[in-house]
Amino acid sequence: MVPRPEYLKSDFPEYPRTYCEPLSFRGEPLLRGRHRIHPYPAMLHPLLVDFLVKQYLSNTRAVILDPFCGSGVTLLQGLTHGHDVVGFDINPIALLISEAKTTAYEEETFRREYDDLKKNILRKGAIDVPPIKNIEIWYDSRVVADLGRIRYVLKRKAYCYSSFFTTCFAWVCRHQSFTRNGEFKRYRMLENKRLCMRNEVIPLFLSHAAAMMEVFLQSALPTKSTRLELRDVETGLPQDLEADLILTSPPYGDSGTTVAYEQYTSFGFEWTNDLTPHFQVARDYYKMSLGNKKDTCPKLAHHDILMDTVGSIDTIDSKRARDVLCFFNDYYRALKNVARSLKPGGHMCFVVGNRTVKNQKIPMDQITAAFMIDLGLTFDSITVRKISNKVMPSQNSPTNITGYKSDTMSMEYIVVCHRNP
Ligand SMILES: C[S@@+](CC[C@H](N)C(=O)[O-])C[C@H]1O[C@@H](n2cnc3c(N)ncnc32)[C@H](O)[C@@H]1O
Repeated sequence: MVPRPEYLKSDFPEYPRTYCEPLSFRGEPLLRGRHRIHPYPAMLHPLLVDFLVKQYLSNTRAVILDPFCGSGVTLLQGLTHGHDVVGFDINPIALLISEAKTTAYEEETFRREYDDLKKNILRKGAIDVPPIKNIEIWYDSRVVADLGRIRYVLKRKAYCYSSFFTTCFAWVCRHQSFTRNGEFKRYRMLENKRLCMRNEVIPLFLSHAAAMMEVFLQSALPTKSTRLELRDVETGLPQDLEADLILTSPPYGDSGTTVAYEQYTSFGFEWTNDLTPHFQVARDYYKMSLGNKKDTCPKLAHHDILMDTVGSIDTIDSKRARDVLCFFNDYYRALKNVARSLKPGGHMCFVVGNRTVKNQKIPMDQITAAFMIDLGLTFDSITVRKISNKVMPSQNSPTNITGYKSDTMSMEYIVVCHRNP
């Protein structure tokens, strides 16, 4: 008999897993169409979102909510299917990217604004550099001057499509920094790599913006509504919100030991935070991230799957066990708020990863299913797919020790529940 693969094994038969090969979308790029404007860690695959939207919604106009919207993959795909979309996140760069992607662009204005921006940047006028700590460690001085030149124009001009241009700018701020490629955390390149880096700020910005403008103009959106808000969903959702489909990928753990979204986006954040008044936040906004509020008193003792897992970690490292519990405590509270917005008959799809802590696999898929049942929903399925192209380093650093690596998750688990009509 063929042995059951590790990712399908389960100690909790009430939440069975099924593998689905076609959902791996082998050979299908993750960064496609408008999503190419700015990569984001742990993005959903647009084709997976298309599949789930078609699976759980008819063609009738409906409301899709993504409470952890990140770079807005669910939002953009939802709009293209003719639905209204609502997205929340605590990360201002995530919302900026989402806004740029979900805007409908009018060609003449778009081209005129691009030409105006280009003319002003090439004029090589004044520069505007924000106060960035240790700026010289992260950038060459010529790069700083050219980024300051672009920023100067963006700050002074009230472009209709400023979120598009600012997103392209945020992308260049990261691209031209000394941060290492393939890392989410801020790790400085080695000296030999830094010395080889050329200042390409202005040509890169202009060519990226020009290329993306063509892509955006080719993919006109149906005029449906988009609601985007900076919001910590653990503290609550708008009372009036009613969603037909909730489709999201939540964080898998605290941002210190899993995906450091805020470090990945920090270069764009430092250069653009005051350019985006509607998404402007305090520097320490990431403390609101699930699992980062370490002062909470973790409870949740009645959830067997979680307690079995935490118990095994506790025998090896009680601090890490407590961190995991803190994360799931925050996650449960967020889920409770999110579930309230689901209409009767609506579906909730959470795409999660099962990470390993101290060699103990955390079955976040089954914990999510158990939480959803606890909140009054009905279990449908857990589908497993291989990730062949996620925006993830090939290995990740689960500790804060530079260079210490462990295997990155290579499977995604799609947990689906519904509210009875
Ligand atoms: C896995 S990412 C989402 C990626 C997204 N699906 C995409 O395709 O780009 C999880 C997101 O949750 C956000 N997040 C973490 N804690 C949050 C909270 N308390 N409230 C709202 N968003 C939060 C993070 O900033 C991050 O953008």
